[in-house]
Amino acid sequence: MGLLDGRVAVVTGAGRGIGREFARCLAAEGASVVVNDVGAALDGAGADETPARQTCDEITAAGGRAVPSHESVTDYEAAGRIVQAALDSFGRIDILVNNAGIVRDRTLLKMTEDDFDAVMAVHVKGTFNCARHAAGPMREQGYGRIINVTSSAGLRGNFGQTNYGAAKAAIMGMTFIWALELGRHGITVNAVAPAGATRMTASLFERSGTPPPPEADPALNAPIVAFLASERAGHVNGQILGRTDYAFTIFQHPRQIAFMWRDGGWDPAGVAEHFDQILGQHLQPVGMTMPTGMEFRAPSTRTST
Ligand SMILES: NC(=O)c1ccc[n+]([C@@H]2O[C@H](COP(=O)([O-])OP(=O)(O)OC[C@H]3O[C@@H](n4cnc5c(N)ncnc54)[C@H](O)[C@@H]3O)[C@@H](O)[C@H]2O)c1
Repeated sequence: MGLLDGRVAVVTGAGRGIGREFARCLAAEGASVVVNDVGAALDGAGADETPARQTCDEITAAGGRAVPSHESVTDYEAAGRIVQAALDSFGRIDILVNNAGIVRDRTLLKMTEDDFDAVMAVHVKGTFNCARHAAGPMREQGYGRIINVTSSAGLRGNFGQTNYGAAKAAIMGMTFIWALELGRHGITVNAVAPAGATRMTASLFERSGTPPPPEADPALNAPIVAFLASERAGHVNGQILGRTDYAFTIFQHPRQIAFMWRDGGWDPAGVAEHFDQILGQHLQPVGMTMPTGMEFRAPSTRTST
């Protein structure tokens, strides 16, 4: 018995890297999977049917059920065909994992309009396109699981990733909104910020001069997605989960952490006079640093709070 027996999943960008591991894990847990991947280069150029086929072959060789889809998530009509492939091949769609992604890293001063638009098109528009088409059938059956893929680059900021960070922050926003809108129809919407040695992060490991360690294995992300995709996670909605090494993590939602009040409101000079003593006491670092005091504990031994 798997966590996902009888369920039907679509995983976008599942021909390689982290998405391939999501697809293989969901299939191993019993889901039938539409393996979508346009087969693009890291910057989004080109197309190749081989990656999606390969993941399907791996799944079927392991005894699972999978069909390939080579459509691009950036195209609204094509995204409809990705969802339709699940309905045509397996009769329903229970799970959508919006994983497809590209990068075109440059600092703001060097980023072109095309760099910005291309990255937004895959991550933001692609996530919208697929969710828009999947939400209807999910609502009709009163059940669904949407898992969006975000990144610390968008949640905390990262040098050289204006386009990617903006896209991943937008995905966080859509996750919260869809959790509110779709939750009442039995559809949960969560996000994961994964990590792993894939071609997307290859240059980081090349620059460090060391091969990726075992804890950079992209397969380590998949178990939490399998859980979120299951009936067991019906109470988990609108959350952002992450992975660091052998730990799964949960992100705090952005929220106000302090306030300064003046009856009738502030004037600029008043703000300037009081800012440092009040809100200025709570300034936070930006960037992808691990928060201090983070606890890594196995739930079997202790619970972290
Ligand atoms: N690798 C990491 O450390 C890391 C960290 C945080 C977030 N992520 C996110 O995880 C996801 C997977 O990244 P990865 O590292 O496995 O990268 P990857 O390049 O190995 O895989 C991405 C896949 O998406 C496919 N794709 C690109 N454009 C597409 C489109 N328009 N339609 C359909 N498929 C398309 C590509 O062909 C590719 O196979 C991305 O959303 C990425 O932003 C990765």
